[in-house]
Amino acid sequence: MVLVTDAAKALIDGNLVAFPTETVYGLGADANNQAAVAKIYTVKGRPADHPLIVHISSITKLNDWARDIPEYANALAKDFWPGPMTLILKKSDLAKNFITGGQVTVGLRVPKHPIALELLKEFEKLGGQGVAAPSANRFGKVSPTTADSVKEELANELSENDLILDGGQSEVGLESTIIDCTQSAPRILRPGAITKEMIERSTGLSITTLGDEIRVSGALDNHYAPKAKVLLDIEPQPGDGYIALSKHETPTGVIRLSAPKTIDEFAKELYSALRLADQKSISRVVVRQPDGEGIALAIRDRLLKASS
Ligand code: TXA
Ligand code: MG
Repeated sequence: MVLVTDAAKALIDGNLVAFPTETVYGLGADANNQAAVAKIYTVKGRPADHPLIVHISSITKLNDWARDIPEYANALAKDFWPGPMTLILKKSDLAKNFITGGQVTVGLRVPKHPIALELLKEFEKLGGQGVAAPSANRFGKVSPTTADSVKEELANELSENDLILDGGQSEVGLESTIIDCTQSAPRILRPGAITKEMIERSTGLSITTLGDEIRVSGALDNHYAPKAKVLLDIEPQPGDGYIALSKHETPTGVIRLSAPKTIDEFAKELYSALRLADQKSISRVVVRQPDGEGIALAIRDRLLKASS
C-alpha cells in the first residue's frame, strides 16, 4: 500500500501521484514544478493550452494563488470548502502560465476526501504550495472514480516513480462545479454537486442560467466518453447496455449496467457503469436520464458530451 507521506515526497521530487477526491480521482503534480506539470499533459494526452485546477489544503491558502478575490467568492469558499467546487479567480504571480494555459485566471479547489486533504497537508509541510490535478483519465475519456479505474486508464503511461493512492470509490462521482468568480456575479462553467440554488443562497446573488455560458475544455464535443456509443432516452434493444433509475425495469435481453435508487447514487455510479460497458465489450449504452435540477443537471451535462 502506498503511504500518504511517501506520495507527498514523490510530488516534491517531481513525480506524479494519482489520488482520490470526493468527485473523481485526480492526477497530481507539484503546481510550481514546470517539468512535473508537463508530465501530466503527456500522460493524459491533453492539449497544452488547457488549464489545470490547483488543489490546496485550506481556504487560508487562497490568497497565495489568487488576487482581487470578490466577497462572494470568499462566501462560497467558506460555505463549500472542503468540497466539490472549483473557483476561477484572478491569478497571483504564483500561478504560472504552465498551470493556467496562459490565462490570467487560476482554478482553485480544496477537496473533501480525507486522503486528498492529508496528502495536501503533508505536501505543504515539505514546502509545497499546491497540487495541480486534472481528472486521472486519458484526454476525452471517462473520469476514474476508483483506484482500479486509474490503473486501467493510465498504468501504461505512468513512470516507475509515479504513485497511485487508493481511497475507495469517490463519493460524488462527477467532477466539481466550476464557478467563474471574475465578474460581478458568479457564473457556472461546469455544473456539479454544488448547485445553482446553493450558490445563490451562499452569495445572495442570482446567477445566469446554464447553457450558454463560457465553454471550458470539458465542454468540447465527445468528452467523458467510453468506447461504447452512448444513446440517450431511447428504448434499449437486446444486447444494449442500460443505465437508468431502479424504478425502470430492464427490457428482455438488455444488459443492466446500473440501477441506482437515487439521483445521488446515479451520479456516483455513472462513470463506473460506462466503464463496465467497455469491459463487457458492449457497443451501445442507452441511458435514461434523470429529470430535475441539482446534480441531475450535472449528470445530463456529462451525458450530453459523452453522447456527442
Ligand atoms: O472534480 C474535479 O474538478 C477534478 C478533481 C480531480 O479535482 N478535476 C478535474 O480537472 O475535473 P479537469 O482538468 O479534468 O477539469 C477541469 C476543468 C477543465 O475543463 C479546465 O479547462 C477548467 O477546469 N479550468 C481549469 N482552470 C481554468 C481556468 N483558469 N479558467 C477556465 N477554466 C479552467
Ligand atoms: Mg477531466
